[in-house]
Amino acid sequence: MMSDEYAVIGNPIGHTKSPLIHGLFAKETGQDMSYISIEGPVEPDGAFADTVRSFIAAGGRGMNVTAPFKLKAFALSDERSERAALAGAVNAMKFENGRIVAENFDGVGLVRDIEVNLHQPMAAKRVLILGAGGAVRGALLPFIAARPAELVVANRHVEKAEALVEQVAAGGSLTACGYAELAAMGQFDLVVNATSASLTGELPPVPASVFSARGAAYELAYGKGLTPFLRLAREAGVQGVADGVGMLVEQAAEAFAWWRGIRPQTRALIDRLTIPLE
Ligand code: ATR
Repeated sequence: MMSDEYAVIGNPIGHTKSPLIHGLFAKETGQDMSYISIEGPVEPDGAFADTVRSFIAAGGRGMNVTAPFKLKAFALSDERSERAALAGAVNAMKFENGRIVAENFDGVGLVRDIEVNLHQPMAAKRVLILGAGGAVRGALLPFIAARPAELVVANRHVEKAEALVEQVAAGGSLTACGYAELAAMGQFDLVVNATSASLTGELPPVPASVFSARGAAYELAYGKGLTPFLRLAREAGVQGVADGVGMLVEQAAEAFAWWRGIRPQTRALIDRLTIPLE
């Protein structure tokens, strides 16, 4: 009998670490499964859905989804978790009883990395998230569930942050603002850069006064070294700076547990995939 098949779909997909990660998880937990990468078609319309359906027809049990297909996967799914619904984006699918069930584990993976691996529990803390795009939409509900005293979403186009905050309606502890307002808001225990600025080597216009030396700064991008954001945090005296390697492994562990009913260890794998910041 064939083993259970899983895959990650994206375009381009050559850089993906998911087959390595899930392959090691499967070995560690003794699961009989395979995990491959699929370069999905960007065009024509409908070709992505056809690729997913062929994978299901060939016995596929689940799929991870990466750029640029997270919205298409959302549209294709029959059932979505609340966090996937708010994100409007899907990073994991499970195929069961002819249905496509969709999840988004990016946010929970991020929260778990911050709280468990980096030892920075968010409860009762002041937390600042930079950005209001897909990454933030995916992270917002898990962040709120971690019960920070204050959660501020800052974005260049402030109306985007405001719309997001309104949509969640979490009450007074969740607020939106522009970068200019941050200078008067004091220090935050945790500052998370969830903008796409680091991908082009840019720095969001965040004032150094938001950082707290005893706090932490987290860069969602993985393997970009000391980005301008992390450099600024370092210069402000922040000891705890991290990039998204832990989030990458933790979201994979969440998907694996959802699919297989068993949670793999993550520490050794995070260490193995870590690219030193400097
Ligand atoms: P995705 O959905 O993939 O996250 P996105 O919706 O384009 O992509 O979101 C990118 C985020 O990075 C946005 O919050 C964007 O700010 P705006 O909404 O104001 O455009 C932010 N961003 C990108 N480049 C930036 C830069 N140089 N400085 C500050 N914010 C930046």
